[in-house]
Amino acid sequence: MKQKFIHPPLLLLLILFSTLSAQQTVNNAILDLDKAHYKISRNIYGHFSEHLGRCIYGGFWVGENSSIPNVRGIRSDVVEAMKRIKVPVLRWPGGCFADEYHWMDGIGPRSQRPTMINTNWGGITEDNSFGTHEFLDLCEQIGSAPYFSGNLGSRTIRELSQWVEYVNSDNVSPMTELRKKNGREKPWNVPYWGLGNESWGCGGDMKPQYYSDLARRYGRFMKDFGNTTLNKIAVGPNGNDYNWTDVIMHELGNSIWGLALHYYTWNTGEHATDVTEKSWYNTMHNTLVMEELVTRHSAIMNKYDPGKSVALVVDEWGMWHAVEPGTNPGFLYQQNTLRDALVAGINLNIFNNHCDRVKMAAIAQTVNVLQSLILTKDEKMVLTPTYHVFDMYKVHQDAVMIPISLETDSIDTDQGKIPALHISSSLDKDGKIHITACNLNAEENEKLVCSFNSFTVRSASGQILTSDKLNAHNTFDEPDNVGIKPFDDFKTSENKIEINVPKHSVIAVELTGDLNLKSAEVDFSKLKPGLSFNFYEGELNRLPDFYEIEPKRSGSINNVIYPEGTPANNFGLTYEGYIKIDKEGLYEFYLTSDDGSKLSVDNKEIVLNDGLHAMVEKSGSLFLSEGYHNINISFFQRGGGSGLNLKMKAPGGEKEEVKDGIFFHVEK
Ligand code: AHR
Repeated sequence: MKQKFIHPPLLLLLILFSTLSAQQTVNNAILDLDKAHYKISRNIYGHFSEHLGRCIYGGFWVGENSSIPNVRGIRSDVVEAMKRIKVPVLRWPGGCFADEYHWMDGIGPRSQRPTMINTNWGGITEDNSFGTHEFLDLCEQIGSAPYFSGNLGSRTIRELSQWVEYVNSDNVSPMTELRKKNGREKPWNVPYWGLGNESWGCGGDMKPQYYSDLARRYGRFMKDFGNTTLNKIAVGPNGNDYNWTDVIMHELGNSIWGLALHYYTWNTGEHATDVTEKSWYNTMHNTLVMEELVTRHSAIMNKYDPGKSVALVVDEWGMWHAVEPGTNPGFLYQQNTLRDALVAGINLNIFNNHCDRVKMAAIAQTVNVLQSLILTKDEKMVLTPTYHVFDMYKVHQDAVMIPISLETDSIDTDQGKIPALHISSSLDKDGKIHITACNLNAEENEKLVCSFNSFTVRSASGQILTSDKLNAHNTFDEPDNVGIKPFDDFKTSENKIEINVPKHSVIAVELTGDLNLKSAEVDFSKLKPGLSFNFYEGELNRLPDFYEIEPKRSGSINNVIYPEGTPANNFGLTYEGYIKIDKEGLYEFYLTSDDGSKLSVDNKEIVLNDGLHAMVEKSGSLFLSEGYHNINISFFQRGGGSGLNLKMKAPGGEKEEVKDGIFFHVEK
């Protein structure tokens, strides 16, 4: 399977070498810590729970009178398992189900709730015993943020706006009175709202232009209550429908928080456990398509949103196999093997590596449906290989992504070449590096050499998920066939780690060490408090190269605020100097502006918030040593609203306005 270019005179030598070296080839990765500043949003590790098959009923919900241990009807074993992997966000109630769902049928005394037919999934009767209160209770028990999919397909604007009011308002209103009557005093503050689901298909068979108009109209009547700003997520493309992304970004790019992308790794001709080498490689190839989709959809989004304000939300992804023999075809129940684990690892690596744009994702689906993390049968519960991957990868949540350049072997498959190794890496708030790697090679181990700039390795530890069999899986009788094991087949040196990644495995390695952080050399005799600033005039649409423009005036200022005499419109500002850091660690910077702005620290671009826009907050992170660091902020204002604000989160601290007294400059 493996393809290599072989220079003829080297052939003999190579044959000799390859027999001696027992098939090992080297894959080289350079981890560029100097360019690490995009945070991997924890929400990439999100999940999806639909009223489909046994996801809700039997999966999460057993009812208060069940003999299965539960808290207010929600099964405790599932909640505990979900808590362990730190589920950050949970999407509900669908899927296709969402565009037929009438949320008011799912509130009030359960015995009086109307029923409906679940036309999408098996035609069964939905008794609505699990509704808004139960789902939000589930989220609170797990500690996840709720993500509601609104019904744009078959219900009214009024109904959706009332749902927002019911869950988020603290005012005196008909909806809040109803909520209180149903037992909930305080609002839940649901932050994420889908404007429909798959409106190009089961959500209404719409064209993108029609959908945009509809989503804009529904979105207009979904109000923010209290401090909760609604993060509205528009229906995005079906896989490679690039035209859909183009139209939606053109029409809605300024008014949405996110754009959804749905892509499944289809394998409906086979059951999950029917894994041959051929189908293994086809699956790997098909799942790697996600890389191309994310890249190309992001490129279209960049056209309309260069500042990357709109999140790409991959809120349905995963393996779609044929259902398990003897189960209801409408229930989408499938087993989950080592192959699914690799699929999970590869997709999570892709999302990590694209975390500048992918800020949320949800695997489909959490329990008993498609690529589940958990399977249940009556009182029994089993964790799948996919669950274990989420467990191994949870260290990436909210860590800073380390860009990697990887040279790897390629493997020939029926559908083209695929890389042998697939990896991602991050730096967590304690300064530890985490590397997760998948070896897609079903036949050979792969040697991976990771080199770091700006990091000296002290120690390493690892975990592995693998098995002798490609179709290894856990069952209710044998729940521990595939599980996480300690892994130590690696060798560290000063700025390197050499890892032997076993064939068909997922590994996670944690490195402790010293970040070779530098601070600026400062001439203290010339140091003055505050930043120096330059003021420019001009009708700007984007941040220019301010060094090419003559400033109208200059001065110093104690914080990132407008200098006195700043006009309302048509100007630019730059701020320059040092920020004094008292404690080494991970710093997060939040730059909010109307219009465009940019923040660099130590000459590294940390936040780019460019373009004409209303007040938009963008953030970036950086490890800083104690001492003084160069800081540079540029900003422009064209017309309309105006503002600039810098906040910071120091290690162990809260996000707060940067204080006067932290900035210094050298008088020129
Ligand atoms: O996850 C199963 C279904 O797949 C969802 O309901 C739908 O959105 C998608 O087509």
